[in-house]
Amino acid sequence: MHRFKYRDNLLCCENAAIRDIAKRFGTPFYLYSHKTLTDHYDKIRIAFKSLNPLICFSVKANSNLAVLKTLVSRGSGLDIVSGGELYKALKVGCPSGRIVYASVGKKTSEIEEAIRRNIFSFNVESEPELATINQIAGRLRKRSRVSLRLNPDVDAMTHKYITTGKSENKFGLDLAKAAGIYRNTRRYPNLNIDGVHIHIGSQITESLPFVKAIKKTLRFIDSLKVPIKNFNIGGGMGIIYSDERPQTAQQFAKRIIPLLKGRPFRLILEPGRFIAGNSGILVTRVIYIKQAFQKKFAIVDAGMNDLIRPSLYSAYHEILPVRRQAKAPVNKYDIVGPICESGDFLAKDRRFNRLKTGDLLAVMGAGAYGFTMASNYNSRPRVSEIMVEGRRVCLVRRAETYKDLIKGEILPRGI
Ligand SMILES: Cc1ncc(COP(=O)(O)O)c(C=O)c1O
Repeated sequence: MHRFKYRDNLLCCENAAIRDIAKRFGTPFYLYSHKTLTDHYDKIRIAFKSLNPLICFSVKANSNLAVLKTLVSRGSGLDIVSGGELYKALKVGCPSGRIVYASVGKKTSEIEEAIRRNIFSFNVESEPELATINQIAGRLRKRSRVSLRLNPDVDAMTHKYITTGKSENKFGLDLAKAAGIYRNTRRYPNLNIDGVHIHIGSQITESLPFVKAIKKTLRFIDSLKVPIKNFNIGGGMGIIYSDERPQTAQQFAKRIIPLLKGRPFRLILEPGRFIAGNSGILVTRVIYIKQAFQKKFAIVDAGMNDLIRPSLYSAYHEILPVRRQAKAPVNKYDIVGPICESGDFLAKDRRFNRLKTGDLLAVMGAGAYGFTMASNYNSRPRVSEIMVEGRRVCLVRRAETYKDLIKGEILPRGI
């Protein structure tokens, strides 16, 4: 359920008409619904309440400060993967005891900062990384908590680019290697290696792959016979983009809780897409309609640099006209951006009635892995981000300017 609905044939975000927001700020822009964000966070929180988990929103899904602050204020922790995400987490006042840090390639400077800030734990993906964290913690006279990220070699049944728990993926440690580490923690005197982490992929619409991965991990934990205090089951819960019927938070919890109830460890969850995905849209305007051979193209002012998911994953995003069309959708259009790539499209073969220059379109389900994956390709400034709470419309990131495009660039003298 999200809060983007038609009222008097105009698409609204909560109680604000998107047409008016576009008039005020110009297009394109990302638009977030505060209520949808908090509703989705609450869905997970309530579903898993009996286990009192630490829920760490995955910052990579949406790192806008207003989004992070909204969730952190409600008690969410944050799952980070870089020094930049740590910076943002601290900026919104996330208590460091609610920050978990994954990534296969943490740099020493990033590790040092995270240790100094006393984050809750590192999710460690390799032995060299473990040795590095141990060495830095020793130098800083600190003890750091670590969960080993396991690769359970389970098929998440999702797109291959967002599958992360198969043996051919770069993520996590194989079980044999991990077992060796848990049994020899004395080799890492500056670490408390007392947690287990898995994250098998993203946009997973069924509970079964999670159940398989968790059961396999529990068997592994039982075989270890060492005390495990934290079990982080990652993120990955899928959402509705088109006709998917993903498990609800309640259904998911109903399958997972019985596996973990009575176990002596703290449950950690790292949802990203589930919370942010349907909380945001990308609003764009038709610049030109082009008829070419048998095809009709609606060329819009947002492109693959603003939302790369369709080009990168062939991801489907529903596209709604901001003013509801009265007549039947009889024409097929490719909705394409201005970028000089044939792969620059937001949608293909979508039915509308007549589209014309100036029409506003809403690309739905763009709240996760939307702005965070945007780039300046073709020297296009990144678009603004706007958050609506009830009737209140807040600019939460201004659009970049041409000056922003060259910020940091240096022209050597005499060149
Ligand atoms: C380690 C880890 N945790 C959590 C997430 C969030 O996944 P999702 O947005 O599918 O919930 C990701 C996404 O890639 C991840 O790599």
